[in-house]
Amino acid sequence: MVFLKSFSVLVISDEPKNLYEIFDSIGITLRKTNKTKASISSNFSAYDIAFIDIDADGWEKRLLELKQYMPVITFGKPDIEKAVKSMKLGATDFLTKPLKNELVKEIFENFKDKPKVEIEGLIGKSQVMEDVYSGIRKAALTDSNVLITGESGTGKELVARAIHKLSDRKENPFIVINCSAIPDTLLESELFGFEKGAFTGANYTKKGLFEWADKGTLFFDEIGDVSPLFQTKILRVIQEGEFIRIGSGRPIRVDVRFIAATNKDLTKACKEGGFREDLFYRLNVIHIEIPPLRNRKEDIPSLVDFFIKKHSSKRKDINIKAITEEALDALMNYSFPGNVRELENIIERAIAFTNSVEITIKDLPSYLLKNQHPKKILFGPLREAVDNFEKELIWSALQKSRGNISKAAALLGIHRQQLQRKLKQFKISP
Ligand SMILES: Nc1ncnc2c1ncn2[C@@H]1O[C@H](COP(=O)(O)OP(=O)(O)OP(=O)(O)O)[C@@H](O)[C@H]1O
Ligand SMILES: [Mg+2]
Repeated sequence: MVFLKSFSVLVISDEPKNLYEIFDSIGITLRKTNKTKASISSNFSAYDIAFIDIDADGWEKRLLELKQYMPVITFGKPDIEKAVKSMKLGATDFLTKPLKNELVKEIFENFKDKPKVEIEGLIGKSQVMEDVYSGIRKAALTDSNVLITGESGTGKELVARAIHKLSDRKENPFIVINCSAIPDTLLESELFGFEKGAFTGANYTKKGLFEWADKGTLFFDEIGDVSPLFQTKILRVIQEGEFIRIGSGRPIRVDVRFIAATNKDLTKACKEGGFREDLFYRLNVIHIEIPPLRNRKEDIPSLVDFFIKKHSSKRKDINIKAITEEALDALMNYSFPGNVRELENIIERAIAFTNSVEITIKDLPSYLLKNQHPKKILFGPLREAVDNFEKELIWSALQKSRGNISKAAALLGIHRQQLQRKLKQFKISP
């Protein structure tokens, strides 16, 4: 274990001497432990960064495990396939032996200002997810309304719950309204409730969802699918903070924080007249956009791990603990139109199907294997191959972000300045 100012560094290598010397020469105080191979069951959240030697056996498993907790840098003898594989599995950077002082130093510079992220229930440490986490933290500190957007299955409800759990309202109710499931005829009685005798059959007084949510959070799920009547009714409550039960003349005041989610493009719906602009602005005070899983593939290994742990207890006959590299590779090469929910379903199904303690490629659905992105064969010297791989990634990120450097950097999980350096190095103009 090595400390650099406020850093605590985990080194896993059979021959860490060279790395220790570099740490020494760039001003890092060394505090050596007896073990060079750190015990894998230690408390990982205590570390800020890990260096894994990929010339040692079992590095893949370590990388997958450690990257859930911290950025991982891999290093090893020049080996194209291993280097690319380590990046695919989620290493932040790869260094060739013999290690160079400046490169190691640069790595620490890049991580200096990065905050640690940990939000209950949410897995994924990609840069784009870090942005989601900072949105959640910001939202939790206020009572402002929040609009969460993202494709189906990206985790919108999970994010809404996380905001509630981190907020001062956490002890009070979190009420979900599945907007598209309430017909206009039942709208008022569901949302506002009714007084006994308000209409035929109303032989008791019923509280509405707004009242149940008092002092808590109300989550409008699928807000993009609601009728004009629904929009008008909730706009009033959001503006005034009060409503009237059916059959009563007395307004009831409530203290509710509103969070809404949709997979629709509401700006477009506003332009086309399907969604009220005034309601849109009321809801869109804080906007959190959850990126699709295919734009944060580096999160796949830790999500897979998480879902294996979550669902493995359903098999009473065998204890499923892992996934083969080949199967993980297949998942990494798939585009997940159904996002995290689809990944979870795939893992759950594989656990039901498999005959071994590891999920293999045979346990994955056949449609997934048919829709693999073709793999390019890499050749030539290591540096060139790694550069080509990086260039390709940068190109596709720039294409996706339509040339926006900040967005492309976010997709790649690196800092803007780092991307600019790479663009200069590769002579790419966005
Ligand atoms: N980052 C994540 N970490 C762990 N689990 C996740 C994550 N994102 C999503 N999930 C899981 O994926 C599933 C889908 O998430 P959720 O229901 O929040 O998605 P959604 O965006 O509301 O989807 P829809 O638009 O279809 O309603 C849930 O089981 C959820 O727990
Ligand atoms: Mg949902």
